[in-house]
Amino acid sequence: MAFPAGFFEDHHVILAPMAGVSDLIFRRLCEEQGADLTFTEMVSAKGLSYANEKTRHLMDVLPGTAEVGVQIFGHEPKTMAEQAKWIEDALGESLAYLDINMGCPARKIVKKGDGSALMNAPELAADIVNAVKRAVSHPVTCKFRRGWSEESGESASAFAYRMQEAGADAVAVHGRFAMQYYKGASDAGAIARVKEAVSIPVIGNGDVTSGAQARALKERTGCDAIMVGRAAQGNPWVFADIKAALADDVAPSPPTLEERVQMARRHIARLLAVRPHAAAYLRKHAMWYLHGCPHAAFARGQLATCKTQEEFFAVLDGVLDRDLTEGAAHGA
Ligand SMILES: Cc1cc2nc3c(=O)[nH]c(=O)nc-3n(C[C@H](O)[C@H](O)[C@H](O)COP(=O)(O)O)c2cc1C
Repeated sequence: MAFPAGFFEDHHVILAPMAGVSDLIFRRLCEEQGADLTFTEMVSAKGLSYANEKTRHLMDVLPGTAEVGVQIFGHEPKTMAEQAKWIEDALGESLAYLDINMGCPARKIVKKGDGSALMNAPELAADIVNAVKRAVSHPVTCKFRRGWSEESGESASAFAYRMQEAGADAVAVHGRFAMQYYKGASDAGAIARVKEAVSIPVIGNGDVTSGAQARALKERTGCDAIMVGRAAQGNPWVFADIKAALADDVAPSPPTLEERVQMARRHIARLLAVRPHAAAYLRKHAMWYLHGCPHAAFARGQLATCKTQEEFFAVLDGVLDRDLTEGAAHGA
């Protein structure tokens, strides 16, 4: 099934899949702050085929959460198709659509022929899209990069066209080469060239950190939707900022320190309620919420040993107390 008409007008600003970041509570917080759609982190088709519980939990959704995008990775068309079907059946109405990872540059992924290695094997990538499309009734997209490497040159447009021919219902493009990892800048021109090459919707991704940048990327590329990754870490407010800029509305005020602390508390409390062993994982999120705040350095050391909600909350309260004390000392 293709996307219903106007889907990306209603799902304009999307949280990118991020391995080790996009837990179910983080996704929900982004949604509450304005993300039109959120993505699971990449899910191993092979892992699912072994009924791996940990892999399955990556796709958990909270009751009442909007539809979620699920991204799978792998390189075997049959396994990918079978597991896509399993996901469709398991998630039911919670599934928005399925995406196939063709952009991950991590060595352990690429060496198995998964992720961005598929950019070097467009016929296999096309077979995967084709097989997954035939197995499911939801729309199927793929997410990839500008190309494999600067040396081998930009291949995103030809690749996107091939995926469209294989049945992809949309593509998401990150404007860096795989071998750039996160170095240098994401090239909006590459996304614009993909947009010219295909007739399916194109989701632009890479280096969007504000409403103004989202608007610039949209104007430069004509992309149908914007996908945001790193800028949402510790900053789900970025979605409201982007939505306002795209709608020509006044930008919302940036969050206060108190609001940041409240958001961190919410993330920690809600996640520990469903994942009691997630404390070590939550430390990085907690730090992200405090990024750039006074006393972030103080908090870093303290958060490193937090194991319980109470310990996290004590550190966060300490950050606020220090801020208040300092404010009072300066006569604020
Ligand atoms: C920690 C981290 C994990 C990521 N995991 C995935 C993933 O599972 N699947 C994927 O397609 N991209 C993944 N990415 C890439 C992002 O989805 C996105 O394409 C990239 O970060 C560029 O967008 P940004 O500049 O908005 O962050 C990840 C990026 C980061 C920083």
